[in-house]
This record gives sequence, structure tokens and C-alpha cells, in this order.
Amino acid sequence: EAPSIVVVGSVNRDLVTILERMPAGGETVHARDFLQSHGGKGANQAVAAARLGAKVALVAKVGGDVFGADALANFRAAGIDTSHVGELPDKPTGTATILVEPDGENRIMIVAGANGALTPADVEAAADTIAKARLVLLQLEVPMETVAAALAVSARVGTPVCLNPAPAPDSLDAGLIGPALRFVVPNRGELALLTGLPTESEADLAAAARALLARGVGAVVVTLGAEGALLVEGEGEPRRFPAARVRALDTTGAGDAFIGAFAARFVHDGDVEAAIRNGAAFAGLSVTRQGAQASYPAMALSDLGD
Ligand code: RIB
Ligand code: NA
Repeated sequence: EAPSIVVVGSVNRDLVTILERMPAGGETVHARDFLQSHGGKGANQAVAAARLGAKVALVAKVGGDVFGADALANFRAAGIDTSHVGELPDKPTGTATILVEPDGENRIMIVAGANGALTPADVEAAADTIAKARLVLLQLEVPMETVAAALAVSARVGTPVCLNPAPAPDSLDAGLIGPALRFVVPNRGELALLTGLPTESEADLAAAARALLARGVGAVVVTLGAEGALLVEGEGEPRRFPAARVRALDTTGAGDAFIGAFAARFVHDGDVEAAIRNGAAFAGLSVTRQGAQASYPAMALSDLGD
């Protein structure tokens, strides 16, 4: 069975230190805890969709270190097609060093490592797989030219694309935003950066999303954390979806959980509103547990509700 979702994106090992408080310059503090998790936005979205039963292929690069071997084993255990995951013996696997304070706010430092060596040629090599898929998922943790190539290949073979413009880019080639994008899924800050528009109020969000629609994007789903999500498409009123009501323990990777579940439902029956509800429900589950992929439960799509 050909994968219905192809993710072109990053693989990281997340190294998480949980602190009482941030140390000042020159200061050493005792932290509360340390944990490691499989991470990276591309890998997270791929694993989230796979945990919900979707057939997923990943186009990515890992390093020739223990983190890379671990990541590959993890993808295989999740049932992900890794025929387009390359191993680079001379590069380190991407890492995300994550500092978590008790009140929740995260600080994340990413080292691209092998992710920085994912090339347009790697995407081209996966063109047949992309052609058979029903959705391609893209983020911005791999080189911009590779993201552009993934968009171009997807457009050429007629597979719709969902772009998650994260982490928020300093600048984005304006040519990337166009009709090849069936969905753009930004958070509030990413939407502001993409459009150069304010995103404070509900009306701001709708206006900024409409600026993307005017460039040919099919639909914009703004993720708003505990405030849920906003769907803006066509001429109609924006539609608001609530977040799951949960006690958040760790929000790392919650946006990726949303997108993975959204994609799994979208390729299942094309119901965009149900996909957003499933995304919100799965993200809600993920924030009640530590870590990114470590917090994504394996379950049937139907158990997320409708
Ligand atoms: O979106 C969450 C992810 O961002 C983490 O898993 C970390 O790897 C960073 O890339
Ligand atoms: Na989590």
C-alpha cells in the first residue's frame, strides 16, 4: 500500500532540561530533571499521523551517530516508510536543546546537523512516492531550497501540500505561498511573520489569513494553543474550534501532534472540519505528557471522536 502522507522535514533528538529557573550568565544551577525524546517537526508530524494509523513516508536525513540509529529504529517501530531517510556518516543528527521552566514557557535551540543536508535532489528522488500520496507535509526546519523543491515537485505531480511555517522564519520567499498550498497551518506569531500583518484580535487573524488566501492558498488553519484553532477558507465566516480542556504539562510538539492528526483525518475522508477537531483532540492528549513523540498515544482515529 502506497503511503497516503509524505512528510519532507527534520529529525531531531530532543534534549530537555527542566529548570526551577534560568541561570544567569556565568551562573550554574541545579536543574530539576533531564529527559530525551524523539523530536524534530517533520519526524513528529510523521509519527503523530502514523500513531493514528495513517500510512506515512518520511523524506529526511539523520546523522551517523547513535541519535540517528535510534531515530531510524523509532520510525520503523512506528510503521513509517524510511526508504527516503538518508544516513550521513559524517554529520551529527539534528538536536534540539530545550529548556523548560516550571511555568511552562520553553526555550529551544536547534542545531540542524544532518537536516541541513536534506537537498532538492533528495526530494526529487521521492517524486514517485509523492505522486501517489494524498497529502505532503512541510515545515521550515530543513533548507528553504528543499522546502521550495518539495512544493515544486508536489505541484508538478498534483499532490496537495500542507505547510506549517515553523519555526517562524526570518524571511520566506514570497513565491512559496501560492496555489500549490492546500493548507497553511501557522500559529499566531508565524501568521504575523508570513503576512507582515497584526494578529492580535480575531478580526486581525481573519484578515491576515485572508491575505494568504488572496495568494492562492486553499485554506488557513491558525493554531492558537489553549484557545483552539481558527479555520479561514473561501468567502464564509472564519470558524472557531475549541482546544481540548486539559492540564498542560509539556506543550513541546503539540503543534506537530495537531498537524499529524489533522493530516491523518484529512487523507482518511477529506473532512477538513473533522480533521481540525481530531487535531485539537490529539494535541490535547499530547500536552498532558512529557516530550514530543513520547507523548503521542497510538490509537484509532475514530477514538478521537468526530
Ligand atoms: O515542534 C517541536 C519540535 O521542535 C521539537 O521536537 C524540537 O525538535 C523542535 O524541532
Ligand atoms: Na507533550
